[in-house]
Amino acid sequence: MLQVQGLSKKYGAIVVADAIDFALDPGQCLGVIGPNGAGKSSLFNLITGVARADAGSVRLGGVELLGQPPHRRARLGVARAFQIPQAFGNLTVYENVLAAASFGAGLAGAQAARRAVDALSRCGLQARSRDMAGRLPLLDRKRLEMAKAIATDPKLLLLDEVAGGLTEPEVAALAALVAELKTQLAVIWIEHIPQALHAVADRILVLHFGRKLLEAPPDEAMASREVREIYMGLAA
Ligand SMILES: Nc1ncnc2c1ncn2[C@@H]1O[C@H](COP(=O)(O)OP(=O)(O)O)[C@@H](O)[C@H]1O
Ligand SMILES: [Mg+2]
Repeated sequence: MLQVQGLSKKYGAIVVADAIDFALDPGQCLGVIGPNGAGKSSLFNLITGVARADAGSVRLGGVELLGQPPHRRARLGVARAFQIPQAFGNLTVYENVLAAASFGAGLAGAQAARRAVDALSRCGLQARSRDMAGRLPLLDRKRLEMAKAIATDPKLLLLDEVAGGLTEPEVAALAALVAELKTQLAVIWIEHIPQALHAVADRILVLHFGRKLLEAPPDEAMASREVREIYMGLAA
């Protein structure tokens, strides 16, 4: 589904992506961890087209994304959810998701409405449909971010630190939602909270100074020398 090869990007002397390679299939979740400034969000900027890569290839379902504008990549199946929920606070939950189905996915009328209702139900927000988005508790605002992304019917869902600010039981609830969603698409989940990834990620990719240090199943990644060094400052 997704094939990233030799993906490279520098800002001046700062290397945010250093010939990164990985691949991902539908039904899989790749967790991404790494210290602040490692290049995690930059990886998403390169995949979505917010930033322009210096070199490499990002193919989704065989189609090259690099060189295409962000809106076209969205139509090709890339959706992203942010740590800080980006909803329209003075619209209802339903209206927010309808906007995503309309402008993100290009649907209209009954088709857009059906897509929105389906996304709300997959994300456990049916009962909140008529509530104003700006008044939702944090976990539901996170669910709304997911519903907006899902409403575009993505092949690839990019989650950037969406668990930030949640309590531990809320993180578990969000992880359960991601586990449910990933059965139908490929997910890349950047998270500072490794426990959140543990239950959902099939593999974890460790980034450091834009370089892929390691890609391994969660247990192996967490126990690795590389992760202990960068997170706990143990001597190399
Ligand atoms: N548009 C930009 N221009 C210059 N430097 C940038 C830009 N975007 C990110 N950076 C720098 O690239 C590095 C990686 O940033 P980022 O990908 O946001 O890290 P992470 O998400 O892993 O914390 C940081 O040093 C950041 O300051
Ligand atoms: Mg980031």
